Amino acid sequence: MAKFIITPKPTLGGEIAVLGAKNAAIKMIAASILIDGKTSLENVPDILDIQKIINILEKMGGKFRRLGHELEVDITTLRPDDPDPTLVAQIRASIVLVGPMLARFGRVRIPHPGGCTIGSRPIDLHLKAFQTLGVEVKVNGPNYEFFYHDENASSVVSVDFEKISVTATENVLLFASGLQREIIINNAAIEPEVLDLIEFLKKAGVDISQDGRQIRIIGRKNLKTVRHRVVPDRIEAGTLAIMAAATKSSLKILNCNPDHLKSLLKKFQEMGIKFATGENFLYINDSPGGSRIKAASISTTEYPGFPTDLQPPMGVLFTQAAGKSMIEENIFEHRLEYLKELQKMGAKIKILTAKKAEITGPTVLSGAKIESLDLRAGATLLIAALVANTKTEINHAENIDRGYEKIETRLEKIGAKIQRVR
Ligand code: EPZ
Repeated sequence: MAKFIITPKPTLGGEIAVLGAKNAAIKMIAASILIDGKTSLENVPDILDIQKIINILEKMGGKFRRLGHELEVDITTLRPDDPDPTLVAQIRASIVLVGPMLARFGRVRIPHPGGCTIGSRPIDLHLKAFQTLGVEVKVNGPNYEFFYHDENASSVVSVDFEKISVTATENVLLFASGLQREIIINNAAIEPEVLDLIEFLKKAGVDISQDGRQIRIIGRKNLKTVRHRVVPDRIEAGTLAIMAAATKSSLKILNCNPDHLKSLLKKFQEMGIKFATGENFLYINDSPGGSRIKAASISTTEYPGFPTDLQPPMGVLFTQAAGKSMIEENIFEHRLEYLKELQKMGAKIKILTAKKAEITGPTVLSGAKIESLDLRAGATLLIAALVANTKTEINHAENIDRGYEKIETRLEKIGAKIQRVR
């Protein structure tokens, strides 16, 4: 297991470019299962989670060619094998292979796509949605088997999600896109990554209309090949913005979409963090002599509310804010674990319940040997290490590589002193 060793640096500075959204690109690779011929995706980050989904489909006969951040996908020779269970279990996103595999081959078997440190990650919403659409689901041991015969093509069916789920919405979207029938999704997730997937599918010839949380799909066989530029990763952009604010740095974040970060920027305003935005950049101007950051509270909800994936980085920022800040994590049941790692660095944190914590600042963080529990917590601890006044060692660097491309090289370019030790 590699680790990062971070030597404190007073501030960062300069420019850093954001890459394409991991959670959009993965779903478009899954969507290519419905498309014979060469699909080209631009702005695809070179990260472990993307490589894993590629490995799964390559083992089934899919062909991939990466040219920098462009990924060429050709699924023409995909075989109806079961996706490799070991690889599927390593990455939650593999659950979205079910929808397109069912539409193309009529059956698929996968193990539970694995929980992780942030929560149990159930798939009951996915199973119920597929059963509503006429899919037979068999559970045997750790595996789920799905069967579908397109005999009820005529009926319009609505899937009403009792809880908003990003990948469950995407799974039904991908399933419906490959069938000649009309499907309506109610209470759908509308994260920018979901809307970007809809844009991709429309280019492929699927008739999709989205009105608030209702999505109407009339799918088709033989989708058209697509060239598509993946939407910028708002979570990477937000994490870098929080990193700049926490280290009192002036940083220009390029190739991002500030419109996707409204809830974060509203919180920055409340905290007195200075920033400016353009069409595709976000400039954080919190120079060391700047005014003190004020405490605030966040409560995570589905988009467009405050994103759960930016909750952990905010935990570090709150250690540098004057006063008592509150965190309420409403999406995942174990997403406050990283706070224990911050406490090892001297953060003043009261964990009130499994969902709530109070952070008092500003506190000086000192370096420690800490664990990057999952990919977002890993990025969080990188921010804490940059804020700390002594050297920090972060284990399991691979967890950070899952979601952030060449992170140490890119952070070094803006002044961080970070070394990867194998
Ligand atoms: C997606 O996870 C993202 N992952 C997550 O990003 C993100 O945090 C999350 O959406 C919320 O925005 C991918 O897109 C690969 P959910 P997902 O289904 O779809 C419950 C990252 O680091 N639920 O929207 O798994 C679930 O437990 C990751 O990039 C059920 O109860 O999240 C949670 O409480 C972390 N039953 C809530 O719904 C289900 O069948 C929202 O989960 C599915 C979900």
